[in-house]
Amino acid sequence: MNTELRHPSFTIWLSRASLEVSPVKLVDMSSVSPAGKAFFVTTPIFYVNDAPHIGHAYTEVAADVLARWHRQKGSNSFLLTGTDEHGEKILRTATANNQTPQAWADKLVHDSWLPMLETLDINNQDFIRTTEPRHKKNVQTFLQNLYDKGFIYQGSYEGNYCVGCEEFKTDSDLVEGTGEFAMKMVCAIHSKPVERLEETNYFFKLSQFQQPLLDYYQQNPKFIQPEAARNEVISFVSRELTDLSISRSKDKFDWGIDIPWDTDHVIYVWFDALLNYITAIGYGEDEGKLNSLWPASVQVVGKDILRFHAVIWPAMLMAAELKPAEKVFAHGWLLVGGEKMSKSKLTGIAPTQITDVFGSDAFRYYFMKAIAFGQDGSFSWEDLSARYQAELANGFGNVASRVVAMVHRYFDGVIPAAESITDADKKIEETAAQSIRQADAAMDDVAIQDALLAIWELVDGLNVYLTEQEPWILAKDEANRARLGTILYTSLEGLRTLAVALTPFIPKATAKLWASIGHELGDLGSQPLLEAANWNQLVVGKKINELESLFPRVEQEDRD
Ligand code: ME8
Ligand code: MG
Repeated sequence: MNTELRHPSFTIWLSRASLEVSPVKLVDMSSVSPAGKAFFVTTPIFYVNDAPHIGHAYTEVAADVLARWHRQKGSNSFLLTGTDEHGEKILRTATANNQTPQAWADKLVHDSWLPMLETLDINNQDFIRTTEPRHKKNVQTFLQNLYDKGFIYQGSYEGNYCVGCEEFKTDSDLVEGTGEFAMKMVCAIHSKPVERLEETNYFFKLSQFQQPLLDYYQQNPKFIQPEAARNEVISFVSRELTDLSISRSKDKFDWGIDIPWDTDHVIYVWFDALLNYITAIGYGEDEGKLNSLWPASVQVVGKDILRFHAVIWPAMLMAAELKPAEKVFAHGWLLVGGEKMSKSKLTGIAPTQITDVFGSDAFRYYFMKAIAFGQDGSFSWEDLSARYQAELANGFGNVASRVVAMVHRYFDGVIPAAESITDADKKIEETAAQSIRQADAAMDDVAIQDALLAIWELVDGLNVYLTEQEPWILAKDEANRARLGTILYTSLEGLRTLAVALTPFIPKATAKLWASIGHELGDLGSQPLLEAANWNQLVVGKKINELESLFPRVEQEDRD
């Protein structure tokens, strides 16, 4: 028999048996953030078993673009990233390198992970490491709380474990191996055999959250994005949800956080890692900060770790009477030879291999523009090179340098007035307004590629406008001076709009453009994004500066 429980915003069904053990209590689950709440974006915290490759860089850039977009709109944006340092995978790697896991993690964080953020111009507000006291202490607080509430019990686990994923695997998660592992069942992600585990563990009553999770997905249709990811999670949770082993016995290994009431066990690395999203922002210590940021606006993850974020994590939060995030967005994989690029398969390309040649803006632009966010994509040097040339250098860079050069040549660098406006001029203004509107709607849906496509309508529109208006021909006759000024003023306004709209994507190039044309209007960072296409902001009669090359020519040899 079922008992119906009513809550402010939804109804949960629980079987009588589970109700007697411990009722699932939920707080208000409305997904609307209160006015003025910060825009809180998170990335996964990455394993420090090796240095980052462009897959990790991809996640960082996407999260940073989202955070910067909302910051430019005037929100208090907070981007959190960090490293996941406990668990068997890290311990084994460190041991194989004759180091303690802490020394190994310290070295990788300082030599590789933090420098990656610099390389890519990531503007993160915090970086959490799971070996920090602020994390370890409050993970224990959280776990003790769940234990006291009756959500944790002791049992025994027997089954498969993939150390690459740090995940318990059912038989249906495995696939047939190939090559050296032919005839064996292997992890579908790491292509390596799983290990057999048999031990006494503590379990989290995940099974009790099957219906609450399904209800939450239904009532918050945008919680899991994109649609394919949402459907996969719903069908997974609908089938069956079993309780989750959340500890490992210290007989086997001890690189983790102690279970507070039983120090013969360490906390399962994923249970530890997921909690970074709240320990970093004050859980257990600073309630005010926690409430100003949580629930996260968007948690960006790769699709490999979607279930952890869309099933286990919200269930953990519900158990602790905290709200799930507003959105979990699972992006696709960068592929190499049709497989996920990975640290463990040594198929990674270091971000610096790309940024050393093309610069960080090109990296950021390329991955956001070439791959629909949410789908898999393959990186190719040819495609990167072609887009750099066509879209950045010849598209945006060229229109900017031509306009700035003409203002210098024909008007001594003084911003000319726009006199009588023609349909062609009006159309540029309209294109600008439409670009901003469409890009913002796309960013609300985390459709980052679509946002860039919308903004590129203005880049292309300006190029066509110049080609059609031929200001360099008009400049030959003094009688056309007013018309020439109008065309250049219109073009400068288009460039100003682009500088503001593109700064979340390509902060370095837009800063250079701003130093030339926008410096009189204050910092680029303080230009409200949604007002970017409001015309006539540039002040007639003010001087512009020379423009540094936005996208310098890349010589073919630079790549070899
Ligand atoms: O899973 N394409 O860490 P991890 C795109 N520590 N993105 C990729 C990628 C690829 N080929 N390879 C990696 C973990 N990524 C856990 C997370 S969170 C509480 C704990 C990115 O080092 C992508 O974001 O294996 C993926 O989800 C993540 O790196 C996995 O990083
Ligand atoms: Mg991984």
